[in-house]
Amino acid sequence: MKPKIYVTRRIPQPGLDILAEVFEVEVNPYDRVVTREELIAGVKGKDALLCLLTDKIDAEVMDAEPRLKVIANYAVGFDNVDVAAATRRGIPVTNTPGVLTDTTADLAFTLLLATARRVVEADKFMRAGKYQGWAPMLFLGQDIHHKTLGIVGFGRIGQAVAERAAGFHMRILYSDSKRASGEIENKYNAEFRELADLLRESDFVSLHVPLTESTYHLISDEEFDLMKKTAILVNTSRGPVVDEKALVRALKAGKIAGAGLDVYEREPQCEPELKELDNVIMVPHIASASVETRTKMATMAAENAVAVIRGEIPPNLVNPEVWEKRRK
Ligand code: GLV
Ligand code: GLV
Repeated sequence: MKPKIYVTRRIPQPGLDILAEVFEVEVNPYDRVVTREELIAGVKGKDALLCLLTDKIDAEVMDAEPRLKVIANYAVGFDNVDVAAATRRGIPVTNTPGVLTDTTADLAFTLLLATARRVVEADKFMRAGKYQGWAPMLFLGQDIHHKTLGIVGFGRIGQAVAERAAGFHMRILYSDSKRASGEIENKYNAEFRELADLLRESDFVSLHVPLTESTYHLISDEEFDLMKKTAILVNTSRGPVVDEKALVRALKAGKIAGAGLDVYEREPQCEPELKELDNVIMVPHIASASVETRTKMATMAAENAVAVIRGEIPPNLVNPEVWEKRRK
């Protein structure tokens, strides 16, 4: 008998094809996030779970099926999974790092450019038929080239953003819980700063930290007070890294000049006032949303689940300490 996997929402077909070679696959039939009840019912009787960042995978979900052997998250971020609870139960948790690094960095840079150069506002103006001819003061934005970019979280994605910034001759500062090696600093021409100093000195601040207890509301009123009035904040990490109400206050008070956002504190909601601000560009959590990358994420998540069922160490294990005591 084939082992069974529950997939909480349809993912690109190549991932499902890999799963089907090994598993009996059940996919949430609806094109929406599963409800809590559907999730628990779906996990019952399954050996494996392939889930999304929109699914909260906590102890109750894990305990819905005592023989659950793997939680394969279709995302690099895994703040939606209670990893400690999985580890206590000996369940391996996997993610999809690496394949979405460049795609996410591309979107962070897109938001940076589009916000600085007021691209969305200008597009709306054009469509509204308001363009009357070239004018010296029409849609003046801010330069990007030769400005200072502060990268908060200098992991794979933060470094890929630095790579892009080099082409714009930007000065690169970074902060991180641990300082990078001299080799990495030289490679990206990046200077380490404590967060407060980075915020004071940067024209653009781009966030690339994972969401953890220590990064929750990393950017709040106090941090906005440190930033330049001309600064632009870009967030493609996780919404709760920014105190969204404080962001609205900062934008309205002119403490910063703008924001480019991919993620929100209470997705799919956002602070309603953000929608009224022209100096904010908002996209719906699409940083990894290219055909190529979403396909790679699907095959990667599938390969992780398959590896565990075959008794092999999955390529992208988040909690390696479970490996010895995993469920057989
Ligand atoms: C997307 O947000 C991811 O973590 O993969
Ligand atoms: C994600 O790929 C990271 O920056 O660690």
